[in-house]
Amino acid sequence: MKHTQVLGTGSYVPSNRVTNADLEKIVETSDEWIQSRTGIVSRPKTIDENTSDLAYQAALKALDNANLTAQDIDLIIVATVTSDYQFPGVSQLLQKRLGCRFIPAFDLNAACSGFIYALNVADKMIKSGTYKTALILGAETLTKYTDYTDRNTCVLFADGAGAMVVGESDEAKIKHIVTYADGDAESMLKMDGYPLKVGFETPPQKRPFLEMQGSEVFKFATSVLPKTIEELLSVTNHTLDEVDIVIAHQANSRIIAKAAKTLKIAPEKMYVNIDRFGNTSAASVPLAIDEAIKTGKLKKGDLFATVAFGAGLTWGGALIRL
Ligand code: UT7
Repeated sequence: MKHTQVLGTGSYVPSNRVTNADLEKIVETSDEWIQSRTGIVSRPKTIDENTSDLAYQAALKALDNANLTAQDIDLIIVATVTSDYQFPGVSQLLQKRLGCRFIPAFDLNAACSGFIYALNVADKMIKSGTYKTALILGAETLTKYTDYTDRNTCVLFADGAGAMVVGESDEAKIKHIVTYADGDAESMLKMDGYPLKVGFETPPQKRPFLEMQGSEVFKFATSVLPKTIEELLSVTNHTLDEVDIVIAHQANSRIIAKAAKTLKIAPEKMYVNIDRFGNTSAASVPLAIDEAIKTGKLKKGDLFATVAFGAGLTWGGALIRL
């Protein structure tokens, strides 16, 4: 069986930013509440770029970083819940726009855990020898699904894209990946779809927005984050001391701090950029990985753990030597 490795990363967020002060003007909230309860100071919000536009910019950077061209890519997977169209998928728009060959390209919906799911699928396809090089992304424009009259959610979600090129390797650098789901708790975090027809009539429906039972999701997140890291370490026979940095889904800085406490890991080992990016769902993990690399916090040869959790409920993680 072949092994896999990370060949390059890239990310992109819209330049327009929404500050907590901006949100104070539209809902009953405060900068103090948002910062102390979530860690967010400002977040990128798209004006005229859709998910495929963000994905395209992140993909160009990842290809450049990997010293590859679009012609070298054998497979594209885009993790997203906010595709430009219901269909075709962002992945197919990206395949065309990048000028790739006729390769498989599909979208994957596992909400905020989507990037880890995409990584798992790409890893297994490369290990099986089916493909040599895959471009995987988490890309979202969550703000289009956000209700800006709902203070419980509108202060959290944001827009962005993160991309990673993964390929064959002689050494097992992507050491282990786990992905899980528990559909029992579907209503904790959801957005309604199209209603079924009554006869041939479409019942009236107001435009759906995402809804979340925040404190329930918080409990779930603080439970699965440390458990996932412990599982990754136990399966691979690594210790927490050997891990240079943990890059978790940026949903709330308190979730990350609580996980650090549970794991008895130094807080500075937990990567945090939610203050500047908010919650970008599937984009959050690859965006944070790329930023950690570009700022020198994650270096070649480092061992890092990444974990994500979200609607479904879904969760997963990976242990990777860069
Ligand atoms: O990415 C997918 C995974 N998502 C997550 O992991 C999110 C997990 N959940 C969270 O991060 C937190 O639960 C939230 C940040 C969403 C909420 O924080 P919380 O400390 O759990 O607050 P809460 O929902 O228990 O609400 C506490 C109070 C409520 O007021 P009352 O009922 O006590 O009077 C809320 O109405 O805070 C109120 N509140 C706000 N107040 C000011 C909720 N949102 C706001 C707000 N500004 N934006």
